[in-house]
Amino acid sequence: VKILEIHGKNGDSAIVIGEVLKNLDRYIPNRKVIVITDSNVMDHYLGDFPSCEFIEIGVGEGIKNLDTVKDIYERLVGLEADRSCFIVGIGGGVVCDIAGFAASTYLRGVRFGFVSTTLLSQVDASVGGKNGVNFKGYKNMVGVFSQPEFVICDMNLLKTLPSREIRCGLAEIVKHAAIGDADLLTYLEGHWKEALCLDVEVMESLVYESVLIKASIVNRDEREEGERRKLNFGHTFGHAIEKTTGILHGEAVSIGMVAALALSEKRGYLSAQERQRIEGLLMKLGLPTSIQFERGVVIDALRRDKKRDNGAIYCVVLRRIGEAFVEAIPLGELEMIVHSLGSGI
Ligand SMILES: NC(=O)c1ccc[n+]([C@@H]2O[C@H](COP(=O)([O-])OP(=O)(O)OC[C@H]3O[C@@H](n4cnc5c(N)ncnc54)[C@H](O)[C@@H]3O)[C@@H](O)[C@H]2O)c1
Repeated sequence: VKILEIHGKNGDSAIVIGEVLKNLDRYIPNRKVIVITDSNVMDHYLGDFPSCEFIEIGVGEGIKNLDTVKDIYERLVGLEADRSCFIVGIGGGVVCDIAGFAASTYLRGVRFGFVSTTLLSQVDASVGGKNGVNFKGYKNMVGVFSQPEFVICDMNLLKTLPSREIRCGLAEIVKHAAIGDADLLTYLEGHWKEALCLDVEVMESLVYESVLIKASIVNRDEREEGERRKLNFGHTFGHAIEKTTGILHGEAVSIGMVAALALSEKRGYLSAQERQRIEGLLMKLGLPTSIQFERGVVIDALRRDKKRDNGAIYCVVLRRIGEAFVEAIPLGELEMIVHSLGSGI
């Protein structure tokens, strides 16, 4: 078991890599425990849950909204949960984002932790203290910064995850490597086959190295006032594509990274060879690098980006593999990149 720590303004978080769900009891204080989970995770792992109350929510990005949060508050009130309760989100990014938000706001905040059951959640969603839900079609529009006390990353849980979801997690690992660690990219180039087969040793080392990058960035800039923005690499285009095509988050991030790489090269920062290396790796991992989309709709979504400022959008670009920075890019230039993406109609 390896542990990485995040020191947040309102508390610390321990990311425990290689721990197993069955040992969850060891991490929860002696309090009334309430588990929030989704139906898929419950179907597979109910037998390994601690004996406690649980709240089951639906599945998918579509339920990541305030209605679900309201249902959770109602259940918590029904269970007479007071400030001494402890909430554990067991699930992927959707469960963790919602459970963290509900726990941080119910009674002005009760203690909480996560068991991450998807690769994407282990390397990204459950790490870093951003919790929240979508609102009126805008992703993560309502939320808080609040660190889970622990995040358990159990590699064995990944075995029941559809391979499409595994690839989504690998996309976020490529993102972390691209912005912060050239060695991790090289490692993944050498071990992508083992990763796709969920080799436990390879996965533990990929999750550890990936969380290490995210945790060190979050430790320097928890509230995303500067450096943390680098973690949005691929997300400007990615969010626009995710919203308009309905593909999975990690898949959209993969295509978004291809767009951000094209932008980085076009601006004269990144070499064509380094761009091709990352694109090649995404392809080997079976991730999409282009998709049929309606250019007008994607451009419209870009125009409504939250990180917009005076006709420009803050985007993450690469200088080289492992080195990223944020730059305000005029909308017109982003529109040109969208037009240059292979399969727009
Ligand atoms: N808070 C953050 O910093 C942050 C960062 C990245 C992504 N996110 C969010 O994370 C979400 C995506 O997370 P995700 O990819 O984990 O999706 P998800 O939570 O929807 O999980 C994917 C699917 O896998 C199922 N599942 C989960 N664990 C399983 C298991 N062990 N076996 C079988 N099935 C399982 C789920 O029920 C779901 O159907 C998005 O909402 C995104 O915005 C948040």
